[in-house]
Amino acid sequence: MRRPVRSRREIRARVPRGRPLIKRGASDGHSADDARRLRGPVIQVHEVGKVFELGQIRVRALRDVSLRIDTGDLVAIMGSSGSGKSTLMNILGCLDIPTSGRYLIDGVDVSQMDEDDLADLRNRKIGFVFQSFNLVARTSALVNVELPLAYAGLRGAERRRRAERALSSVGMANRMHHQPSELSGGQQQRVAVARALVTNPSLILADEPTGNLDSHSTEDVLRIFAHLNEEGRTVVLITHEPDVAQQTKRVIRLSDGEVVEDRRLSGVHDSPPAIHRQKSAHRRPVDSSAVEVRP
Ligand SMILES: Nc1ncnc2c1ncn2[C@@H]1O[C@H](COP(=O)(O)OP(=O)(O)OP(=O)(O)O)[C@@H](O)[C@H]1O
Ligand SMILES: [Mg+2]
Repeated sequence: MRRPVRSRREIRARVPRGRPLIKRGASDGHSADDARRLRGPVIQVHEVGKVFELGQIRVRALRDVSLRIDTGDLVAIMGSSGSGKSTLMNILGCLDIPTSGRYLIDGVDVSQMDEDDLADLRNRKIGFVFQSFNLVARTSALVNVELPLAYAGLRGAERRRRAERALSSVGMANRMHHQPSELSGGQQQRVAVARALVTNPSLILADEPTGNLDSHSTEDVLRIFAHLNEEGRTVVLITHEPDVAQQTKRVIRLSDGEVVEDRRLSGVHDSPPAIHRQKSAHRRPVDSSAVEVRP
């Protein structure tokens, strides 16, 4: 599995040379727009298994998991600790590979892609929010959010412009120059969300994005995900909290590496519950700066 980036030197070393992955300019032409056009499954998992070998011990983290997630869905993955949620999410995000079975994104078998195509896919299509934020310490929020764009080979001014816009879209315009240690948990999580959406991905994967947050910050983060989904992006999030799962359109439950429940709460193309409630109450969003998402 890819480990998080640790130092600036490492960051520079990992920026691919001469192969821009993200188009320059305002109309980036893919991702959310593609998501609106594409109506098929974005994710197809066929009998995926994952075995971790630790010396003599074999841990079967996933057992023949099959599922299909359509473009535009908003999905919660639930299950007790150790049930395989992060393992599945890492496979969906192409951060890890299955031991058996097949995984297709937009109909393409990930196992058939070479490293360049995989890097391209991760950079262009997928935004990942990690369980523990994974922000680079002693580095401003702005530079943290610029990182995926640096990997993609974008130049400084364009990177800065996009990162500022992404941070503004999650209500962090006035904290851009703060380092992670100078931010609250909820604010760090919003920076992590801004970093995930700065490349304009059509698929957002979030591993317990509200796990460490108070109820107010949880609401903020969920509202951001709801608006990303309303724009046509597919969102898959892991949660332990039934209240959070209720804000999604579909709940998949894992137990001991198997899917034991798959419950639809509302249609794939319905508004997410949080926005649906807002619309029916004829209320404007509480903080419009935190919901306009246009990186
Ligand atoms: N790198 C690894 N090496 C060995 N075993 C692993 C590894 N990663 C996960 N596991 C094991 O696989 C199983 C599933 O782990 P996973 O992290 O997917 O659980 P989870 O559902 O995300 O749990 P949590 O809610 O605690 O985050 C666990 O038994 C775990 O110990
Ligand atoms: Mg986990």
